[in-house]
Amino acid sequence: MDQWPGLMLVDDAPALAEAAARAIADAAVAAVADHGRFTFVLAGGGTPRETYMRLASPPLVDRVPWDKTHVFFGDERCVPPDHVESNYRMASEALLSKVGMAPEHVHRMRGEADDPEKAAAEYARTLATFFGTPRGGQPRFDLVLLGLGLDGHAASLFPGSPASREIFRTVVAVHAAAAQIPQRLTLTIPTLNAAARVIFLISGAEKAKVVKATLTDGAILPGSMIRPTDGTLTWIIDRAAAALLSPDRVGRAPR
Ligand code: 6PG
Repeated sequence: MDQWPGLMLVDDAPALAEAAARAIADAAVAAVADHGRFTFVLAGGGTPRETYMRLASPPLVDRVPWDKTHVFFGDERCVPPDHVESNYRMASEALLSKVGMAPEHVHRMRGEADDPEKAAAEYARTLATFFGTPRGGQPRFDLVLLGLGLDGHAASLFPGSPASREIFRTVVAVHAAAAQIPQRLTLTIPTLNAAARVIFLISGAEKAKVVKATLTDGAILPGSMIRPTDGTLTWIIDRAAAALLSPDRVGRAPR
């Protein structure tokens, strides 16, 4: 596991939310000081909800320069934005509506679109326009937040899916037959790896096997392929999810 220097072990889900929210606020402040804005990719699923809620509460809510923050999504389920399974809805309820983000600073994927391929291409254009990237270029997000699915998926990049081998496009449509909402939109690995910083948030005993498989077993899982080429990678993992990792290799969160 030496090749994974960015592991941060925390006690439990609340400690994970606290460490993650603080890391996000620090990244926001640093990005704005450096280049005047903070581009932040949100993760879906359930794990980040508490992190988002902490970010939306004092003291962190007052630290983050929200008016200079632009929010994007790492993936979306193909459902309307008010659907209970929508990643946008979760982020909106836990964070965006609470901090009064300007709507033009929230760049969501159109999960409700009739044609997911078109929605993916549309989001790719949104990114290219926002970042001014040339065709074939990659946007450079300041921070990407990710979770890890029980089957090893990250964003909506599922093990074995052709989307996980995409080398050119920034956003693709995915059909993951086993997922509860099979049709999805996702950023691709080259796009995630172009970010300045990637943070995985993993909590719970049910994730212990997939964490071990992703970090130590040499399996080619999407999570193992996400390693920023010119950026930093941090895995914030709670004790239960890290239970199968060797303890001497895992650093602790600063107190
Ligand atoms: C999604 C995701 C996905 C998620 C993992 C972990 O839309 O499903 O973005 O990659 O992060 O499935 O989800 P949990 O945090 O709910 O375990």
